[in-house]
Amino acid sequence: MLTQALRDARRFEEEKEREITPDQRPKYHLSTRVGWLNDPNGFCYYQGKYHLFYQYHPYNSHWGPMHWGHAVSMDLIHWEYLPCVMAPDQPYDRDGCYSGSSLTLPDGGHLLMYTGVVNEETDGVMRGVQTQCLAIGDGRDYDKYENNPVLSLSDIPEGSSKYDFRDPKMWQGKDGRYYAVAVTNNSSKGGGQVLLFVSEDGFKWGYETTIASNDDRIGRMWECPDFFELDGKDVLMCSAMDMLPQDLKYYNGNGTFYIIGEYDPDRGVFKEETDHAVDYGIDFYAPQTICTPDGRRIMIAWMQNWDTCNLHTPDVPWFGQMTIPRELSIKDGRLYQKPVQEIEQFREGYVSHKDVRFSDGEISLPGVKGRCVDMTLTIKPAEDKVYQKFALRFAENAKYHTAVSFRPHEGILKIDRKFSGSRRAIIHQRRAAVGCKDGCIRMRLLLDRFSAEIFVGEGEKVMTTTITTEMSADDITFFVDGSAYISVEKYDLVM
Ligand code: FRU
Repeated sequence: MLTQALRDARRFEEEKEREITPDQRPKYHLSTRVGWLNDPNGFCYYQGKYHLFYQYHPYNSHWGPMHWGHAVSMDLIHWEYLPCVMAPDQPYDRDGCYSGSSLTLPDGGHLLMYTGVVNEETDGVMRGVQTQCLAIGDGRDYDKYENNPVLSLSDIPEGSSKYDFRDPKMWQGKDGRYYAVAVTNNSSKGGGQVLLFVSEDGFKWGYETTIASNDDRIGRMWECPDFFELDGKDVLMCSAMDMLPQDLKYYNGNGTFYIIGEYDPDRGVFKEETDHAVDYGIDFYAPQTICTPDGRRIMIAWMQNWDTCNLHTPDVPWFGQMTIPRELSIKDGRLYQKPVQEIEQFREGYVSHKDVRFSDGEISLPGVKGRCVDMTLTIKPAEDKVYQKFALRFAENAKYHTAVSFRPHEGILKIDRKFSGSRRAIIHQRRAAVGCKDGCIRMRLLLDRFSAEIFVGEGEKVMTTTITTEMSADDITFFVDGSAYISVEKYDLVM
């Protein structure tokens, strides 16, 4: 049913969208249709297309009562906006339709599960009571389910907080039943936990087991869980709030981690083996994954971070974009990521330089330039003595640049966006331990108008950052302290 609130949102986005010109947007990353975007929601392949919904506040470029925006794609690169699918317009979700996921029902219908939020005041503090709700649709229009909510406080283990019960991620199991993971906060222990629910029909849900608990590690509250099988392992992916840094593994603020392990469905126990951060850059949160029809596990995330996302001026034409969808695999207990192969069909203008030797200073290479590029770079020491430092600078002119620098003796790669257009005293750098102490390192840069994603080696470490550098900053240069050989393969990305 099209409520007035949804009709208003649809009319507003259609009108306002016209004020944003294509060159004000990323070239190949999905940005919000208008206003504000955060988490990806309901990511799926449905009736021959990829669908991506998102946390959406159409009315201005800041977070507000959450709607669900909607876009579809044939190739995971070009997205077409469809009308907003949900507005916070029911008694059980009047303060927000928070994150959730989707499923295809046996009759071909499309089922969304999301978190309904209703604010309530206790002791002078306003907090949102959160329950899980459903909507059923056809890939364009959705009706909220008459028996909403389908999961609420009475369905979750004692001690769970009603204010932090959210972000259901559903899938269909091999046994044909439907499963969902969602997070809650354990009010006595104070940390996030991931609960597993099961359903025979997608409409009646029951609690099954608790997959993992925070237990005073990896931040406090957890959000946006995902649980999937990959390369013979089970992977729990979750975003954590309020993290304390731990070496270079986790850093302050909100971040996303994965736990690799094995789930025993008979005992309902997830045996954890190892945990790591998903992305070591600055802007990455709340990812969702799907399995594509050809069997790839693809992840997409909100390319932002909660500590800085409210610092922009209200006059920006839009705020919030997604990462490039990334293909996942597991090797030696680690998650590997690479940009979806679909991006490769948009490569043009191949430029290659092989084993260019240079010493003590900066060089640029003929044809290596541009603001929307896919570039792979290999660095090797040119002498027995390994160089001290190597740096790649891009989105560069006299005033701006974004840099990635590598000190082989420390085995540390650093991303730095101090000179990338920010006027705020926020985090501009992050470091990742990458090893490569012999000075041989490979990285792939995916650069778009407002972001950079660096895939190290085979994708075992990734660093993602947004930038706001002016478009005329399109130089790419290389610096070395010592001597090195560099090889570069560069393409323009032309959509
Ligand atoms: C994560 C999150 C979710 C919630 C949504 C609200 O970024 O806080 O837990 O569902 O954003 O917009």
